[in-house]
Amino acid sequence: MEKPKHNRRYFLKSVFAALGIGFVVSWDKMIITHKKIKEQKFFQMSFNTNREITFHNNFVVINKEDKTKVFSSRCTHLGCKIDKSKNDQLLCPCHGSTFDLNGNATKGPAVEPLKELDFEIDELKRQIIVKV
Ligand code: FES
Repeated sequence: MEKPKHNRRYFLKSVFAALGIGFVVSWDKMIITHKKIKEQKFFQMSFNTNREITFHNNFVVINKEDKTKVFSSRCTHLGCKIDKSKNDQLLCPCHGSTFDLNGNATKGPAVEPLKELDFEIDELKRQIIVKV
């Protein structure tokens, strides 16, 4: 007489194997998510709605025509810190690159746009919270 292929033992082994694989995959995703959250940094700084361009240590906040953007202040040429503007152009002090208020390079040697960053505005505290 031939044994049945799918008996109770076979069924239980399959269920435990599936649960084990699911647990390993879930655990792996939890660890990756936790690492991402842990590595994510937030910076809070004052937000002056009356100023069009504000330079903070590592960020440039553009607040024009009811639109706000935040960029890294690191020039995309060799990484000098951009800390000045003139005629709606952000000026790199090292090799003369300029960027418009959308972060696009308008004069070289830099060709890549400035890195735009996610942020939230806390209206009550008049602060901007940048996610890096
Ligand atoms: S680092 Fe900005 S132009 Fe070279």
